[in-house]
Amino acid sequence: MCGIVGYTGSNPALFPLLQGLERLEYRGYDSAGVALIEDGKIVVEKKVGKIRELIRSLWGKEFRGTVGIGHTRWATHGEVCELNAHPHTDSKGEFAVVHNGIIENYREIKEELQKLGIEYKSNTDTEAIVHLVALNYEGDLLKAVLKTIKKLKGAYAFAVISNRERGRIVAVRYGSPLVVGIGKGENFIASDIPALLPFTRDVIPLEDGEVVDLRPDGVLVYNFDGQLITKEVMHVPWDIISAEKGGFKHFMLKEIFEQPRTLGDTIRGYISRDLKLPFSLKDFRRILIVACGTSYHAGLVGKYWIEKHLGVPVEVAYASEVRYAHIPIGEKDLVIAVSQSGETADTRFSALAMKEKGATLLSIVNVMGSALDRESDYTLYTHAGPEIGVAATKTFTAQLAVLYALALSQGENSSRDMENLLEIPRMVEEVLSAHEKIKDLAIKYANYKNFLYLGRYLSYPVALEGALKLKEISYIHAEGYPAGEMKHGPIALIDEKTPTVVVAPADRVYEKILSNIEEVLARKGKVIGVGFEKDEKLRSLCDAVMEVPQVEEDLTPFLTTVPLQLFAYYIADYLGLDVDQPRNLAKTVTVE
Ligand code: M6R
Repeated sequence: MCGIVGYTGSNPALFPLLQGLERLEYRGYDSAGVALIEDGKIVVEKKVGKIRELIRSLWGKEFRGTVGIGHTRWATHGEVCELNAHPHTDSKGEFAVVHNGIIENYREIKEELQKLGIEYKSNTDTEAIVHLVALNYEGDLLKAVLKTIKKLKGAYAFAVISNRERGRIVAVRYGSPLVVGIGKGENFIASDIPALLPFTRDVIPLEDGEVVDLRPDGVLVYNFDGQLITKEVMHVPWDIISAEKGGFKHFMLKEIFEQPRTLGDTIRGYISRDLKLPFSLKDFRRILIVACGTSYHAGLVGKYWIEKHLGVPVEVAYASEVRYAHIPIGEKDLVIAVSQSGETADTRFSALAMKEKGATLLSIVNVMGSALDRESDYTLYTHAGPEIGVAATKTFTAQLAVLYALALSQGENSSRDMENLLEIPRMVEEVLSAHEKIKDLAIKYANYKNFLYLGRYLSYPVALEGALKLKEISYIHAEGYPAGEMKHGPIALIDEKTPTVVVAPADRVYEKILSNIEEVLARKGKVIGVGFEKDEKLRSLCDAVMEVPQVEEDLTPFLTTVPLQLFAYYIADYLGLDVDQPRNLAKTVTVE
């Protein structure tokens, strides 16, 4: 995790660095810092806290340096303090580095450095890099970096500047994302494309094992053996407006409200192009979906759809769990990796391990050009645009749209199913129009300390997702559970202080879940339902119901998810919490 940026050109570097960092803050926000070359010297400014703290500390100071690097941190090694904040410098202050990822053998390197009499100032793994670069430097920064990476173990991306080589940035990608931005007389690097969008839409996503030598008038990319590589420049279709808040209080709220459009884009895209894959899912012995967090929940919904429409057995696994397990997998299997960022280390590495064993790898990603996109045999994109809020919302429903379109396009779909799917964006709009009611309900429940979220069949993953949304942005304990399993243990948690949110659209398990609600009521629990409008039976049982329009059973997750996103959002906002950047989290998790 962490975000890194770099600028070299003829304008003061500070502005693009800070702007870029603000757009990468979703990757971590424990501390932030920049290093610039000012009058032939490296100047470092860093601060604990968010980018705004760094900006505040820079007020009134003048920086004219035209080359610099910046960093926003999500701590892995070493506590959150100024000493551990990046950039880190060597003992003489001639080199500065920013780093994302983990240097696994930093302790050995540190010992070696200490034996050479080099003082190690911080508790980070990063500092090892900068001392090695300084030690290896013989007049050429690129050569010093190439020599340094031979020593490093782990997954990382880093960028180095030196006051002995003005105008030059050398950066490396090995397991953590890094993108080059091409400008006119200026060039950029960043961990992710949104940081580059205010300045350029011409980018070169680097592959693992590549080193970039960046100067104001040119960009050269090498492999780890120092051989020059030819790279293509990609033009990014997103516009900058989609990475702004657009009048909403938080990105998360804006992204929730964008869903009619993002769903429309994704659904129309796939229905009109009919998901052209050169194989049928039915050709495979089984399908294994790997993903993390919200993307895992989308995978769980996808399982029900694919099994129903295609009859192929589907397993869904947490990527971090299958990564080191003995999963029998081979050429007859299809792996579907689901990831918003396409950079999640657990998802990437587990999917790649299965690809190596012969499985076909199909990915569903939001970020075009991301590592997973490039590493997969086939990619289906969610057309949700950049998602800045750490809590995934619009990308979840877009993932659902791709999975459902996939199941329909290869199954015995009726044209009616497709037509119904096309109605979803309008129906989501209807759900959103009831946001004020959901807000009132959220405020009423904001001070409870524990919640249970229950669902069955397609609504079970929706319940898991609702609980995840609540806990990650409001810090309230919320447990998602299959409603039918409750009687096997969690029912012991029910009392008047633990509200239960029950996702209960009138589907094949409707009667069953009404019985589960009765079980909660019998133990004096309060129930908030999510169900179809005008469902009097549900209304009569629940303290309150968040209503959605009636739809075919298959389509219920698209609608029942949305009130739960709003419910979590309004609780967190009412509690005055940092909705877009909740504590301890980062949007893209590039460590295992
Ligand atoms: O980028 P990915 O979809 O691979 O990310 C997976 C999870 O890290 C992500 O869904 C996470 O759980 C979100 N914070 C959920 O809101």
